[in-house]
Amino acid sequence: MIQICDDKLLIFNLLLLMSVLACETSEILTFTAHERGKVEIQCPYESGYKEYKKYLCRGECLRVFKDKVVESESAAKDERFSLNDNKSAQIFTVTITDLRTEDRGKYWCGVKTGVGNLDDFTQIHLEIKHVSRVSGVTGEHLNIICHYESELKNDVKFICKESSTSLCEKSAIKVSSENNSNGRFSLRDDASAGVFTVNITDLTEEDSGIYWCGAVQRGQESKNKWISVTDLNISAEVVKMLNTHH
Ligand SMILES: *[C@@H]1O[C@H](CO)[C@@H](O)[C@H](O)[C@H]1NC(C)=O
Ligand SMILES: *[C@@H]1O[C@H](CO)[C@@H](O)[C@H](O)[C@H]1NC(C)=O
Ligand SMILES: *[C@@H]1O[C@H](CO)[C@@H](O)[C@H](O)[C@H]1NC(C)=O
Ligand SMILES: *[C@@H]1O[C@H](CO)[C@@H](O)[C@H](O)[C@H]1NC(C)=O
Repeated sequence: MIQICDDKLLIFNLLLLMSVLACETSEILTFTAHERGKVEIQCPYESGYKEYKKYLCRGECLRVFKDKVVESESAAKDERFSLNDNKSAQIFTVTITDLRTEDRGKYWCGVKTGVGNLDDFTQIHLEIKHVSRVSGVTGEHLNIICHYESELKNDVKFICKESSTSLCEKSAIKVSSENNSNGRFSLRDDASAGVFTVNITDLTEEDSGIYWCGAVQRGQESKNKWISVTDLNISAEVVKMLNTHH
């Protein structure tokens, strides 16, 4: 395969130069979050851009019309959006809270590099997952069921407990198909049916919270694929009985 991103090929050739430009804009950063949750979109930029204004643009982000949902040094129209520019780390972060399904789609991290110039862009894809609610009773057991597409059938599956996917994949993995059982958590993967099931036994109230079903995609530099989200609400049976009898 021709490596069009290679600097060595950047030689006096307009056609190649155009390929290089296309190559630069083809990297898409994907962020996955859930309804009513929060996402932190991280936009790294070059050191020369520290003093320029940053923004997040929604949709096609055309040269003539930009739907800037939030911009440095000015309050966003929709207060769910905020922007923080960390100049020492050369990363600006756009936080979106109280997420809705309509928030999914294409965005661009933009750096306003000055009048007359084309701004610097990174394409972002934001994926918003629906949350399924499951209730359970302390001391008992329940199953979280994760349906996945057939392209993931050979991948390692896992479940982790954390609202944000970036934290979930790092430190909150409860059980994975590499090791089908871990304490009270066990995982059974039925690849022919495209479903894996996580059984949690001896439930406690602390098991309540957001769980993500995920798959570790092969050859994707451990880029995880996020499958579905479950919000567990575990409460004591005693409380339920008191509620119904009074
Ligand atoms: C900026 O990023 C650096 C490195 O990640 C971090 O140590 C620092 O706390 C950040 N500053 C702010 C204001 O967030
Ligand atoms: C599998 O899980 C058990 C129980 O938590 C743990 O002791 C063991 O080290 C794990 N094995 C691997 C390969 O992760
Ligand atoms: C989940 O685990 C419990 C306790 O080991 C067991 O009784 C139950 O049958 C399991 N459920 C499924 C669907 O495997
Ligand atoms: C969890 O379930 C209990 C009992 O059904 C209910 O009273 C409580 O409001 C629920 N909590 C949440 C956060 O949904």
